[in-house]
Amino acid sequence: MNIVFLGPPGAGKGTQAQRLAAKLGIPQVSTGAILRRAVDEGTPMGRRAKSLMDAGQLVPDEILTELIRDALARPDARDGVVFDGYPRNEAQAAVLDRLLSNIDRRVDAVVLVDAPEEVIVARLAGRRSCPRCGAVFHLEAAPPERPGKCDMCGANLIQRDDDGPETIRDRMKVYREWTAGLEERYGRAGLLLKVDGSGGTPDEVFDLVCDAVEGRRR
Ligand code: AP5
Repeated sequence: MNIVFLGPPGAGKGTQAQRLAAKLGIPQVSTGAILRRAVDEGTPMGRRAKSLMDAGQLVPDEILTELIRDALARPDARDGVVFDGYPRNEAQAAVLDRLLSNIDRRVDAVVLVDAPEEVIVARLAGRRSCPRCGAVFHLEAAPPERPGKCDMCGANLIQRDDDGPETIRDRMKVYREWTAGLEERYGRAGLLLKVDGSGGTPDEVFDLVCDAVEGRRR
């Protein structure tokens, strides 16, 4: 299956996309994570993306197209991909349809993980991420076993550069302006599965995601 995760920043897309990808045995392609890695490594793509990401703005579509084309060419993507954070506007959605159709595939389901703004702000303020392996924690909801250290690889956890209050507001605005319209596109196509991202712990929300996706597969 090719599954898209849609939703405002901090609603829990990444948390749920990672679990679903592991359950289905297909890769999670997080465009945000790939871009952050490129920034850390100082690649040409990372240098172009950094100031836009720091400002909570979208990175140019052509960079994302390249990135998604590479992801689809990976041998482990043969049976499907969980797209986390892509597409984010109409043009990207059209590109994804085209790239999938070129290999006789299509978007099979779109999971919209939504949450109220006050939940989002609390989640992003408490989020801590591992710069080495990408694992995501939360100071209260999902704390690491040793404070400040990644449970998976032991690296020092960091707060993302774009998780400051002002950038959070800008990211929300960008979401409303560019991405929220995709709900209608995918709703019209009968692909949209809405999940309440504030409906419990990450495990409880994952149950909702699995029920929705299972319902779609039947
Ligand atoms: P990206 O990394 O995709 O950021 P985002 O969309 O803003 O989403 P987040 O990663 O902030 O949140 P999430 O919904 O994944 O939440 P999470 O699971 O971590 O993109 C970053 C930037 O890259 C963009 O701003 C843009 O510049 C660029 N970019 C990326 N893709 C692009 C594209 N397609 N086009 C152009 N530019 C692009 O959860 C948040 C916190 O809550 C965590 O601490 C987690 O532990 C906690 N949590 C999760 N679920 C629960 C729960 N049920 N209960 C309690 N806590 C929970």
